[in-house]
Amino acid sequence: MYLKEVVCDNCGFGCDPGTPVTACPDCGSPLKLRYDFDRIEQAVNREELSDSGTERFREFLPLDDPPASLGEGATPVVGSSSLGGDLPGELYFKLEFVNPTGSFKDRGTVMTVSKACEWEVGAVADDSSGNAGASLAGYSAMAGLDCTVYVPASASGEKIVQVKSYGAELKEVPGPRERATDKIKEDTSGTDTYYASHNLSPYFPEGLKTIAYELSEEFGWNPPEHVVVPVGGGALLVGIHRGFRDLARLDWIDRIPRLHGVQVESCNPVVRAFENSWDRTRPTESKPTIAEGVHISNPERGKEILEAIRSTGGRALGVTESEVKEALRKLARKEGLFSEPTSAVPVAGLKRLSDKGAIGSGERVVIPITGSGLKDVEAWKDS
Ligand SMILES: Cc1ncc(COP(=O)(O)O)c(C=O)c1O
Ligand SMILES: [Zn+2]
Repeated sequence: MYLKEVVCDNCGFGCDPGTPVTACPDCGSPLKLRYDFDRIEQAVNREELSDSGTERFREFLPLDDPPASLGEGATPVVGSSSLGGDLPGELYFKLEFVNPTGSFKDRGTVMTVSKACEWEVGAVADDSSGNAGASLAGYSAMAGLDCTVYVPASASGEKIVQVKSYGAELKEVPGPRERATDKIKEDTSGTDTYYASHNLSPYFPEGLKTIAYELSEEFGWNPPEHVVVPVGGGALLVGIHRGFRDLARLDWIDRIPRLHGVQVESCNPVVRAFENSWDRTRPTESKPTIAEGVHISNPERGKEILEAIRSTGGRALGVTESEVKEALRKLARKEGLFSEPTSAVPVAGLKRLSDKGAIGSGERVVIPITGSGLKDVEAWKDS
């Protein structure tokens, strides 16, 4: 393994990779991982990659042992057959819903569950009413870990059924979503249960770097000019950014794509911070949205999200509920892609990006389709 240390940029805390950590124990900020890039450079060559999925890029990942894998990653990229026609450039979709539990989260979960196995922690927990909980439950079942998922008492639907089907324990916490986070922190603090938080653990976004590695390779090491993603807690965007940055550092690619983050107007802390030139997000009032995966009113990784967007020349933008619904329908009817509403958020943002002149002629745009339509059948009721 080429991981050297786990560090906190905020307060200077550091520890070695053998220590189970979620957030910084001193200040509560998200932690970062530092690798030995000189050794990575000697160990790996882009012409000689072997295996597939998570194993293909193992030198870039924080694992000693083979991953606790269910076969995640190596997802297909398909060219748009219709919606791209409205753009001056070319549109592609990366089909993340083909991952083992039906969403991109599996790329992050394989990291947190592998670390839990390496640390010989017998139990994991996360707070999520959606895909991250279902993913953790599935990977825990495979790895033989006890899993508890904390959800707001109001949560319902296919994702909750999926969590229970894998045999995970469901803890319902009354009150708003944030109460589930407070409760899990209280319950796991000082215990042997690893808080495998997709919004806080430094390991989760590391697995999402593989989207950037795969895209770079799939486009012949000449990555697309734009990647457009939905932003909730930000692991997806931050992970993709870290991945492209790794490859640029090794000169495997000579340019990092512009990373655009799309939110819904009903809950848009990143857009507000971006437009006001704040360097971090602030708690935002939110309204219910059909795009439940981006309903996070103050993402823990707000600062890193904004840095990723700004440093790549990307934009943060918001879309309306009706634009999301229309994009969801078009994805199914014109592209044959059955996704959940959150996955349609960047598709809805595309027209706005194009109208603002952000996409140049001939430029290539990739949108990951993050979750399956089977995850939220209710959203299709009136379609
Ligand atoms: C389907 C789907 N897409 C996108 C996101 C947003 O990802 P992130 O929280 O990493 O920003 C989520 C988060 O739950 C999701 O479930
Ligand atoms: Zn700290």
